[in-house]
Amino acid sequence: MVKASDGNIKNSQILGGFLKGSWLFFGVSVFSNLICTLCTTVLPLIISFTVDSVIGNETAEGFYASAAQLFGGVENLKANLWIPALIIAGIALVNGLFSYTNNYFNGCGNQTLVKNMRDGLFSHVQRLPLSRQIMTSTGDVIQRCTSDVWNLSNFISNQMVALLRIIITMVVSVMFMFTMNLTLAGVSLGLIAAITGVSFGFRVIMHKRFRECDEQEGVLSALAQENLTGVRVVRAFGREKYERDKFDRQNEYYTGLWVKTGKVTAGYWSSTEFFNTLQMLVIIVVGTLLCLDGRLTAGELIAFISYNALLVAPLRELGRIISQLSRASVALGRICEVIKAPSEDLGGYEGRLSGDIVFKNVTFGYGEKPVLDDISVTVPEGSTLGVIGGTGSGKSTFAAMLSRLYEPDGGAVYIGGRNIAEIPLATLRANIGLVMQEGYVYSRTVGENIGIAANEPTPEEIENAAKSACVHDNILGFAGGYDTAVGERGVTLSGGQRQRVAIARALMRDVPVLVFDDSLSAVDSRTDAAVRANLKSKFAGATVIIISHRINTVIDADNIIVLDGGKIVESGTGAQLVEKGGIFAEIYKKQTALPEELEGGAL
Ligand SMILES: Nc1ncnc2c1ncn2[C@@H]1O[C@H](COP(=O)(O)OP(=O)(O)O)[C@@H](O)[C@H]1O
Ligand SMILES: [Mg+2]
Repeated sequence: MVKASDGNIKNSQILGGFLKGSWLFFGVSVFSNLICTLCTTVLPLIISFTVDSVIGNETAEGFYASAAQLFGGVENLKANLWIPALIIAGIALVNGLFSYTNNYFNGCGNQTLVKNMRDGLFSHVQRLPLSRQIMTSTGDVIQRCTSDVWNLSNFISNQMVALLRIIITMVVSVMFMFTMNLTLAGVSLGLIAAITGVSFGFRVIMHKRFRECDEQEGVLSALAQENLTGVRVVRAFGREKYERDKFDRQNEYYTGLWVKTGKVTAGYWSSTEFFNTLQMLVIIVVGTLLCLDGRLTAGELIAFISYNALLVAPLRELGRIISQLSRASVALGRICEVIKAPSEDLGGYEGRLSGDIVFKNVTFGYGEKPVLDDISVTVPEGSTLGVIGGTGSGKSTFAAMLSRLYEPDGGAVYIGGRNIAEIPLATLRANIGLVMQEGYVYSRTVGENIGIAANEPTPEEIENAAKSACVHDNILGFAGGYDTAVGERGVTLSGGQRQRVAIARALMRDVPVLVFDDSLSAVDSRTDAAVRANLKSKFAGATVIIISHRINTVIDADNIIVLDGGKIVESGTGAQLVEKGGIFAEIYKKQTALPEELEGGAL
């Protein structure tokens, strides 16, 4: 069950959802930023007034006059020069205080946003169907949950607020510049417009470069991740050099991309630096001429130059913001791609299902080629089905169909007469104890690993399950018993122990259907037989599907199917199949001739 409507949601809506809870923080931060910006823009005015009317002899007019009146008039200020100094210090203090609240609340907003994004991504990734393209590269998923999240949140919290400050600074500065002198303001803005044009030109190139860098970072982290996961294989086969070279090549390519991006960025900074200095020079020359001409006062020129500087700095920043915008929009796209991918709808728990299983003409392929071809088999409640076949014959895929890890392309699977496509996944999976081939173990204690699927399991329940899976004695042999921590991916457990811990985990829940996908492949025949004997005595009512490549494991089953190339080539009881003299009989002959099997005495 997939939510088709998910695909129609807009990126902005997704972003809006992420921003829940951080609006207020950002609001306070923006307000504080406004105050800081006003403090910075009002300073040149005070300096200009002090130079012209307090130190010099220009008459204060309009706004200046009324402002001076607040402090006892210009004459009083002249007599007490410390007053303007104190005003400037007061403004600096207010600026400092609000700068603190700006940064603090910005940080709060940013972290809330990042947390929301991580939570959203993680919970969605958990529900993505296994068939999704996104699920095929762990490294790529990790990058989307880390780098992309960081790029986006950084843009929103830092650059957006900066953008607001820039706009305000620009509006206020331009306003004051025009009131001081039209000509000079015109010259200044004309040159600034030209510089902005250059910045925008760079934007296009940078966008392309950053996108490529981000994509290649994904490839690199996927490589590293895969390598770390498979580190044992790499060591065992002495493939270190090959892997290192492969990583080196990608690393070099990725580094090269950043160097190229660096070139563009350097070009951007140096050219804007040059033009900005040039612009400043022109303003000083023209401004001085205007001063000499008596059309501008010295104080106004100082204020004008300050405003011009206030304008130039944010304009350069604007270029940076624009390039960050490209990165952020790429990141948002990649994050939204995950969120928009239709997820599995788990539905609710509807109670216990019957153990009657019917596969009816089930056909399935991961790609074009069918892996299961017209599979039909009935497994009555409480009976045991053995599935045997060579590697790649489709056994694991057969098990995956039952838990609906993948949807069949044709035909259907029924449990208790109900098509499993209509049973909520939460109900279906809670009713099936599937033990996978790999026997995955989490980085927790052995006890927790066994009890993971149950609700508040008691130590007795965990021990009983471990006893049924014949792993209890092994666990007691560990230094910490059930509290022994199991390393990443269970590396401290042997293959057979890992498989039996996985079996114990499945046996914790009282389920009507148990599926063992080659789950005893790494244990000796004697333990294999003991686990099966336990199943028979303790889980007699359950329908059991035992998948194996080992004849002994399936021979006692009520019914056996032999898979070959995704087709059922033989079926019947063990005795019937041996009698028949087909593939099964042939494997039987070969395997029973093996000394280990004879010694195991499982037959
Ligand atoms: N996730 C997958 N994506 C693509 N092909 C797969 C996937 N899993 C298995 N296959 C292919 O499907 C075929 C059957 O695999 P599987 O069911 O695991 O066989 P078995 O368990 O009998 O060894 C194999 O050819 C295998 O390469
Ligand atoms: Mg398999």
